[in-house]
Amino acid sequence: MYQIAVLPCDGVGPEVVAEGLKVMAVAAEKYGVEYETVEYDIGGERYLRTGEVLPDSVMAELSQCDAIYLGAVGHPDVPPGVLEQGILLKLRFGFDQYVNLRPIKLYPGVETPLKDKGPEDIDFVVVRENTEGFYAGMGGQLKRGTPDEVAVQTGIYTRKGTERIIRYAFEIARKRSKAKQLTCVDKANVLTHGHDLWRRTFVEVGQEYPDIKQENAFVDAVCMWFVKNPEWFDVVVTTNMFGDIITDLGAMIQGGMGVAASGNINPEGVSMFEPIHGSAPKYRGKDVVSPIAAICAAGMMMEHLGSPEAGAAIEKAVISALASGKLGDLSTRSGVRTTEAGDLVASLIE
Ligand code: IPM
Ligand code: MN
Repeated sequence: MYQIAVLPCDGVGPEVVAEGLKVMAVAAEKYGVEYETVEYDIGGERYLRTGEVLPDSVMAELSQCDAIYLGAVGHPDVPPGVLEQGILLKLRFGFDQYVNLRPIKLYPGVETPLKDKGPEDIDFVVVRENTEGFYAGMGGQLKRGTPDEVAVQTGIYTRKGTERIIRYAFEIARKRSKAKQLTCVDKANVLTHGHDLWRRTFVEVGQEYPDIKQENAFVDAVCMWFVKNPEWFDVVVTTNMFGDIITDLGAMIQGGMGVAASGNINPEGVSMFEPIHGSAPKYRGKDVVSPIAAICAAGMMMEHLGSPEAGAAIEKAVISALASGKLGDLSTRSGVRTTEAGDLVASLIE
């Protein structure tokens, strides 16, 4: 019996999580997956009410669960950073979820803004390092608020951290039946210390994977190619900050934030699954946002927990729902209710 901690959090998080759970329940029943969910009241509302963000007592409980299912973090009345740092990054760092896995896949029936590109062209996965780089929080400020102020924010790259994410990406490239290719995305021409470490590590680890085609690319060029030639990519591995940026671009080419899901993975520990989109406070409670990304995240979670059949069934149901044309353009103006979209996907689980 799996224990799944559910953290709906802020904005539209609770609505999309409810649909993900609805679909997951149907798939789990069909494939004999047994689980229990425990919901946690975490997020902006709790912070405003009690001043607590993510108490250590909750972290201790979460450390005992098999996976975490998260909605979205961010509240208009809470200063930026408090919840992002205090919830999302605390979970990623606290549970050493060093892989941020972000599939970029255009499903049939979904519109991409890219001209002349279709589902056969847009199908890759970004493996984003999730515990280091500029997200590590190293640095400081001096003479803040004065004309002489100084701010330093340092990117941290450890050999161990670099090696483990690159190895994970090679393994994914091996498992995927596509081009057997891994592209290491960096800015080694400018970040000559940290990204030199990345390049050397890529070459060294790459020697263990002679069956995988290995390429280096600069992040700015990759932004161009994601748009111009997305078919060139199979698996991409990159640093935390670059991964953050290029996966928003990736989400757009796969049809928007309404479909982009992700897993924050610690292969030996507690992993967390979430849609990439934010809390979208202005749509909160309106039943208008697409739950597809959250549903896909639930599928990734099933697969991670050891039920690839249930995970695949969820993805297939999403594909059928999208292909049916009944979900419109997935935007908030599609006229399709969040709950209706969830019902449709749930009804298509085979
Ligand atoms: C994401 C988000 C987060 C990040 C924010 C909310 C801290 O943008 O998951 O991509 O930067 O990682
Ligand atoms: Mn982001």
